Formats: sequence, C-alpha cells, structure tokens
Amino acid sequence: MKQIVEGTTKLKVETPKIVSKDMQTFYNPIMKANRDLSILLLNSLSKTNMRIALPLAASGIRGIRFFKELKSNKIKSLSMNDMKPEAIKKIKENLKLNKITSKKILVNLGDANQFLYNNKCFDYIDIDPFGSPNHFLDASLKRILNNGILAVTATDTSALAGSYPTACLRKYQATPKKDHNKHESGLRILIKKCQVVAAQYDKALSPIFSYFKDHYYRIFFKVQKGKTKADKIIKQHKMFNKAGPLWSGQLWDKKLTSLMAKNNQFKELQKFLDTIKEESKINEVGTLNIHSLAEKYKLPKLPKTKLLLETIKEKKHKVAISHIDSVSLKTTIDEKQLVALIKLII
Ligand SMILES: C[S@@+](CC[C@H](N)C(=O)[O-])C[C@H]1O[C@@H](n2cnc3c(N)ncnc32)[C@H](O)[C@@H]1O
Repeated sequence: MKQIVEGTTKLKVETPKIVSKDMQTFYNPIMKANRDLSILLLNSLSKTNMRIALPLAASGIRGIRFFKELKSNKIKSLSMNDMKPEAIKKIKENLKLNKITSKKILVNLGDANQFLYNNKCFDYIDIDPFGSPNHFLDASLKRILNNGILAVTATDTSALAGSYPTACLRKYQATPKKDHNKHESGLRILIKKCQVVAAQYDKALSPIFSYFKDHYYRIFFKVQKGKTKADKIIKQHKMFNKAGPLWSGQLWDKKLTSLMAKNNQFKELQKFLDTIKEESKINEVGTLNIHSLAEKYKLPKLPKTKLLLETIKEKKHKVAISHIDSVSLKTTIDEKQLVALIKLII
C-alpha cells in the first residue's frame, strides 16, 4: 500500500506493476485524465447544486477529487457506492486522509443497480465499469433527472472496434469495422446503444463531449425527456462504411468543448482539448487517413500536414486533425478531391 497524490487528493492505494480488476481496491493512474476531464466538464457547465452518483466508486478517488476540485456551488450531495467491502473501507480511509467530514457525502456498500433503484433521482451519474457499461444503463437511465448528465466509460474496445465482431453484435447490436475509423465507429456504436436503451423510457441522449483515449471510450450525455426528442435521436442511427448502425450526429457540444479548452488547468490535456475543439466544428462521420490514401492511390510520398491543412482550407473546406489519430483528418472534402490536392503539393 502506498500513499500517492492525484490532483490535490491524497490516496492510499495498491500500486501493482499491472493494474487489474483483481486488485483488492481498484485504482488506475492512467484514468487520471478521465477524472480530470470529468472535473473540467462539470466545472464548465452552468449546472449547480447537483446530486451526484458514483455507483462504481472503487477507491473513492473520483468522488474525493470532485468534492475538492468542483466549484463550491456544484454539489448538493455526492454518493459513492461499490459492491466490495474493501473498497468501502478504503473510501472511508481516503476521506479521512483528506480530512473530509461533510454531510453532503454518502458512502454505500451494495450492487450499483440496487443503489440507483433505491435512491431518488440524480443530476449526474458516472458509470465507470470494468469493460462494458451495459449492465448499468437501465438503472442509470431510470434514475437520471431531466436535463441531467450521464457519463459513460467503456473499456471493451476490442468488441466495439472490431476485434470481436460477434461480441459487438451480441452486446451492442451493431457490426463494427476494423479499419482506420474503427475507434470513431466504436465510439458511435456505444453512443447508439446508450441512446436505444434511453429511448425505451422516452428519453433522448445527446452527446455533449465524447472521446477515445488510451484504452477506453468516454461519453457525456445530456438527458432530456420526451417522445419526439427520443424519436429524433433514433432517426440519426445509420450505417457508415458497413459499420453500424451507429450514431451519425454530433459527438460534441461545440460551445462546451471550446469552454473546456479555455478553462483547462490540466497542462497535459491542453493539446488533446485543442484538437477536439477544432474537430467539434466539423459535423462529419469518420475521417480520411493520409497513410491509407497514400497506399491506396500509390502516392510517392506523404504531404506535409501543415501545408495540407492550409491547402484544404484555401479550397473553402473545413478540416481538423482527429483526436483519435494524428494522421487522420475530419474534413468536408471528399476522398478523390483530397487525393488530387495531395498530388498537387507533394
Ligand atoms: C473500474 S472500477 C471504478 C474506478 C473508479 N470509478 C475510479 O475512477 O477510480 C469499477 C468498480 O466497480 C465495482 N463494481 C463492479 N461491479 C459492481 C456492481 N455490480 N455493483 C457495484 N460495484 C461494482 C468494482 O468493485 C470496482 O471497484
């Protein structure tokens, strides 16, 4: 057991060489960015006085960081739940270590779904499971308030990105495609899955900030009640390059994304946020990958990225580098036109 610091939070956790779900209490330092982005997003929204639920709380790191790093008017209550008694013990120890005794914080031992069903509704629910979030979608969607935010993480990228197409079909009722767009398709298939579950309860889920990073997908949804709103969402489920059905709408709220890039205090995330800010201005599904195009069209060499972006913009097309892959472009120009442009500048 080691004492570490994440953000301004002290934490006593196991620090094994290999992070696995067999740890007594799970803590993954790589997911710091996931927690940083959640804090940044919640601080960038106008929502205040929120009832926050972390049904899969593990060491309590996310909850304690929320308590310490969210603006003072954000939290009405903060509930942390886990099914492991060791995790609950650790959450309590870590709260003490950080000298937190607030009555706003509630800690509960139990199954995540039972915890949600046994409680009143929440303004923010964060589903951060091992693998797929599927098991927790129903209860979360029953317990999220109108205009609330549902945050979903999925680490089963191998199914969603096409390494296991049968598993993707079974779990997400969609066909993945293992091409250069596999992670954007995977992200969009996951969005579609969450939206379909929500639509059953006449709820519309609109992604306000979505991304792929490291080994996981993450989506923040704004939740709105209404049959017509839910119908509008479902109409945007389409096939793309033989992958899907998947969400074909926006992955980000442009204004929020821009505010997050501006408000950001986590240095190591600035480039990532600036990339997404540019990408969020282009409402296109998928990207064009420069390496794949060079191979397909037998181009003698690759273009210089800066020059290529400038040339595309000169032709009055939108273009941005994908946050998923720095040699893939989100752009309004089509493949043939792009290849013609590349040939002109190499
Ligand atoms: C990936 S960890 C959560 C990490 C945490 N959110 C963080 O930011 O560090 C998943 C946690 O969910 C708990 N868990 C798994 N299935 C559960 C269930 N059905 N009900 C409650 N907790 C569960 C595990 O014990 C584990 O602590």
